[in-house]
Amino acid sequence: MRRTISFFLNGSEVNVTLKDHMRLIDCLRETLNLTGTKEGCGEGECGACTVLVDGQAVNSCLYPAPEAEGKNVLTIEGLQGSENRLSFIQKAFVELGAIQCGFCTPGMILATKALLDSNPDPSDQDIRAALQGNLCRCTGYVQIVEAVKQAAENMRGPE
Ligand code: FES
Ligand code: FES
Repeated sequence: MRRTISFFLNGSEVNVTLKDHMRLIDCLRETLNLTGTKEGCGEGECGACTVLVDGQAVNSCLYPAPEAEGKNVLTIEGLQGSENRLSFIQKAFVELGAIQCGFCTPGMILATKALLDSNPDPSDQDIRAALQGNLCRCTGYVQIVEAVKQAAENMRGPE
């Protein structure tokens, strides 16, 4: 069965016709051509496919696209600073060397956004807990945790 749903994608309303069992990641990458969201394991284990749905980090490889009906979906394409520049989170990841191949990065950054939106001053432990579902095969987690701390500092501004 096919159906048409509408939801808000990176702030704009979209209407898509899809099969009942389509996964959100396929809707984003194949139907809507937003390929910033990556598929690693396809089984909810790696976090590469993380997007935010109504502010919550979800694995889009496990999330049925029809469930996005009426919700707000944020992907890496929607995360920008002013004047099309990098967001403060992306900037911190670049500056702290928290990216190598970049495959895990969109998911890491969206998981970071979900964390900082609810906790603007996270401890190392909070950061590791928030990112525990996001795996990185190249960078190592020390730089990633440092980048999240830097992003939190950037977000809070000068003390
Ligand atoms: S691709 Fe979704 S969790 Fe790995
Ligand atoms: S930077 Fe390559 S998997 Fe994380």
